[in-house]
Amino acid sequence: MTDEQLIGLAREAAKRAYAPYSRFQVGCAVESVDGEVVTGANMENACYRLGLCAEQSALTTAQHAFGLHKVARIAVAGGTGATVCTPCGGCRQAILEAAQLSGRDVEILCSSGDGTKVERFTIGALIPHGFGPANLSESEPA
Ligand code: THU
Repeated sequence: MTDEQLIGLAREAAKRAYAPYSRFQVGCAVESVDGEVVTGANMENACYRLGLCAEQSALTTAQHAFGLHKVARIAVAGGTGATVCTPCGGCRQAILEAAQLSGRDVEILCSSGDGTKVERFTIGALIPHGFGPANLSESEPA
């Protein structure tokens, strides 16, 4: 799948967000090493702090569809304007989990909601020196 197609799926997914409180709709598309793609969108809650981000929504589906260890590439798109939507800190941590399981520096395509701007990152650039499953695998249980 091309970058444009993956971003297109993320932008489509954003349309199905449930974001009545922030009115900021985010969509995410996760591609596996085998080319399978799943999507997700943010889902807010009247108890504001329980809202779920698009990336975590899509990664949950990815785990069920093909496993986090097969995540290869992620596209995120959010908002309505020309500002690129990058994953929040919590979502970076969730992506790092998949990246360390797969041993890949997962690529993240960040698009503006209107699709006019795209920036490309790797999870290693977005969360340098992160703490992940690799850290835990080195320690013995207490
Ligand atoms: N949001 C995401 O879905 N992903 C991000 O990485 C940034 C923020 C959502 C959470 C909330 O529903 C809305 O965008 C505004 O913060």
